[in-house]
Amino acid sequence: MKVGVLGAGQMGSGIAEVFALAGHRVGIFDVDKSQIEKALRNIRWSVEKLTEKGKVKDVEEVMSRIEVLPGVEAVRGDDLILEAVFEDFNVKIDVLRKASEEANDESIIASNTSSIPITELSRAVRMPARFVGMHFFNPPVLMPLVEVIRGDNTGPIYFNRAIDIVRGLGKTPLPVRKDVPGFVVNRILFRIFNAACGLLGKYTVEQIDSVAYYELGFPMGIFMLLDYTGLDLNLSISKEVAKRGLRLECPPVETLVKEGKKGTKSGAGFYNWASRPRIMMV
Ligand code: 3HC
Repeated sequence: MKVGVLGAGQMGSGIAEVFALAGHRVGIFDVDKSQIEKALRNIRWSVEKLTEKGKVKDVEEVMSRIEVLPGVEAVRGDDLILEAVFEDFNVKIDVLRKASEEANDESIIASNTSSIPITELSRAVRMPARFVGMHFFNPPVLMPLVEVIRGDNTGPIYFNRAIDIVRGLGKTPLPVRKDVPGFVVNRILFRIFNAACGLLGKYTVEQIDSVAYYELGFPMGIFMLLDYTGLDLNLSISKEVAKRGLRLECPPVETLVKEGKKGTKSGAGFYNWASRPRIMMV
């Protein structure tokens, strides 16, 4: 299969890697050239890690399946076009409109949106029946679950095809037939984030994360996860879901983003990542 990934941020680069690892040819595009260079570096780092663990044989072979696209028009002829740009309705609409105008009539078009209903986005897509949600989790290469979302206009045949594509990647598809903001996973996560943020002041970030990690069995603390997925991303998600009646409320997130602290990727967020924080029993 030939796959075009639009957006080379944390998610776009991870998704491109997943498809390349599964043997597909992948084209990746971003308006920001430095983002593309960073994406290729991150993919190489990750594939090398998998090689060290005996999960991948040949790094160069995987890397050779990934090409950098000169523009959105280069998705013409791709079997699957996957939009993974910033979580902003207008940005996504713009990219989806352009990409679907270029797509051939047999393509499947998917969005990796975390929160925006597929039906709303489908209004910008030339072939809405061929449009689905395909929502990966960070880091895509390690997270087994992918939500596959059917919007009101998605044709059942293309929804099923998207589920099969996800299965073919070795991932577990979670079919979502109720196209609501945040779908299934993020609707649960928002409540967890809200509950954790509501405890700040009474307890510290480290205390709350210790409970999540040691007592509730989370793979990382709740504030660590916010840092890890990106505070800027979480802020954009909160703005998108707020317009649709859902509450993701954690005022410190906005304050930290204003200070340039976007989480792990910027070196600081709720934690100072330069000092490699670990969750301590406190
Ligand atoms: N590629 C390859 N290897 C990777 C990697 C990657 N992208 N990321 C981490 N690794 C490796 C590490 O290098 C490390 O290797 P080592 O054993 O050789 O040192 C190994 O995986 C384990 O990593 P760490 O020691 O750093 O940490 P953990 O054991 O905690 O594992 C984790 C990391 C898999 C990310 C785990 O903490 C986890 O599952 N966290 C929760 C993640 C999660 O919930 N994601 C979903 C977020 S919500 C979302 O994405 C939705 C969106 O809409 C916002």
